[in-house]
Amino acid sequence: MVCNGQLRRSRRVLARRLVATLAVALACRALHAEEVTERDRPLPHLAHSVHGAQLIVDSQPFLMLGGELGNSTASDLAVLAPALQKCRRMNLNVVLVPVSWDLVEPVEGEFDFSLVEGAIDIASDCDLRLLLLWFGTWKNSMSCYAPSWVKRDVVRFPRARRASGEPLEFVSPACTAACEADARAFAALMRRLREYDSREQTVLMVQVENEVGMIPEPRDRSAESEQAYRGAVPAALATLAVEEKLGPEVGALWEHVGRRSNGSWSEMFGSGPWGEEAFTAWQFATYVEQVAAAGKCEYPLPMFANAALIRPDYLPGKYPSAGPLPHLLEIWRAGAPSLDMICPDIYFPNFMEWCDKYVRNGNPLFIPEMAASRRVTGNIVYAAARFRAMGFGPFSIENVDAEKGRLIADCYETLGGMTSLILKSQREGTVLGLSPQVEFDWTVADEPQRGELAGVRFEAVFDRESTGNAATTTLPTLGAGRWDAPPGTPTGAAMILHVAEDEFAVVAMGATITAAPADGVGKVGLERVQEGRYDRSGKWIGGRWLNGDETHQGRHLRFYDGRWTVQRVKIYRY
Ligand code: DGJ
Repeated sequence: MVCNGQLRRSRRVLARRLVATLAVALACRALHAEEVTERDRPLPHLAHSVHGAQLIVDSQPFLMLGGELGNSTASDLAVLAPALQKCRRMNLNVVLVPVSWDLVEPVEGEFDFSLVEGAIDIASDCDLRLLLLWFGTWKNSMSCYAPSWVKRDVVRFPRARRASGEPLEFVSPACTAACEADARAFAALMRRLREYDSREQTVLMVQVENEVGMIPEPRDRSAESEQAYRGAVPAALATLAVEEKLGPEVGALWEHVGRRSNGSWSEMFGSGPWGEEAFTAWQFATYVEQVAAAGKCEYPLPMFANAALIRPDYLPGKYPSAGPLPHLLEIWRAGAPSLDMICPDIYFPNFMEWCDKYVRNGNPLFIPEMAASRRVTGNIVYAAARFRAMGFGPFSIENVDAEKGRLIADCYETLGGMTSLILKSQREGTVLGLSPQVEFDWTVADEPQRGELAGVRFEAVFDRESTGNAATTTLPTLGAGRWDAPPGTPTGAAMILHVAEDEFAVVAMGATITAAPADGVGKVGLERVQEGRYDRSGKWIGGRWLNGDETHQGRHLRFYDGRWTVQRVKIYRY
């Protein structure tokens, strides 16, 4: 039984958070008014269209051919420098780099941004842009990046607790003091970024926290969280429920317990793990909002939160629950309006399924982390084409082996010359992506993949790597290779861009592609096919005219495995 006093306290905590956010927003408006006149260069921002959103840098759309560094690389500039140089050699244009709260604020109120400034300088020398990852209160659910003055002070910064009362090694999401301290530190970081980098704009976007999520239970049982859970669902969220704007999954929870217009969390969303997760999602989202809003007030770069995904059939509590997951998108959007998007970290083999879930309800697709598996470049090409992804971050990019490094370099060089064409096609909806469909257990169906573009139905069959047999290969379960594709998994994909009447640019690897009229009337033939590449300025540099054996005497387009190539194709109908 919770007493009235406790309920009042929990309402006060929420009210304080909302007031703090509002104050930040108002102060923010004043500050920005000054900045606009000062600034000679517009800041990076997102531009939305019916086909999705794009990142705008220097007033131009920008495709982030990125990679994320391992967690500890940026903590030593002597280690960071060669890592960024390697990224440059792999043709990345963006690198995602962690910033640790404990290293920038080792003593409360005393900031040291030398690592951040050093990272910006090195990146700028390498002609790379950066995205910063704020490892603040939580990194992968835990509070391991919190400064020691936070870690050691469990009175001021209480830890989350299990139902048994056992403390967990992370700060409770109900801890207002931690939220305020984190927001102050993040604001200091963004202020320093504005001073140090707003002219050159090496830093394009910032991630707030890293893979927040409640585990091993769906909600925190600390005293403050208990009070909040038993208190009324905030009116803003209750209204969204009544307006049926909380998405199908949370909407179904609300429906199931009687479509109430107000009440406690369990009354409005049920007392099961999914209802508890909805509560925790609101806690995390409003906490992240306070941090993000404080930072945006200082320097309004685009911001996002990333999520660890869910294995099949896992219930909340078994996975890091309540993070920025697609079934909680609407709660996150309502709780954290300062975030420009929520993002998946896709290590699971069913990459395409997760992309599809994340383009829900206008959420733009950006993939800050993805497995640097044998399929990594196929997934990148497919996500850019099929889901208009604005960027990608194969994880631990500086540590990829020589073969993956070669493939990534090849893919990014190929896409690099075509970015304006790709971005234009994304905006206009004139791009088609085809990829083998891979299941969570790496099962791949060998059926041809089909799609239509500009009146043509394209069909692609993908090569299986010749190095092994998928059916008989067991996967490593531990270590860096744990998310790698088993030998025999197709590595390729295809991106088809409509460039002129009956003319297409096709980027593919390990694929055989045929074309037919979309309306089924007559047939499509290959008038001419030229391989080539787009140079850095986007100009087509034509090479061999492909015919004879190279197109199976005009029957299909052939792209070999192990190398990304571009073909310009003119078709005719007969
Ligand atoms: C996901 C995290 O977000 C990364 O920082 C890193 O810890 C990877 N997992 C490791 O696999």
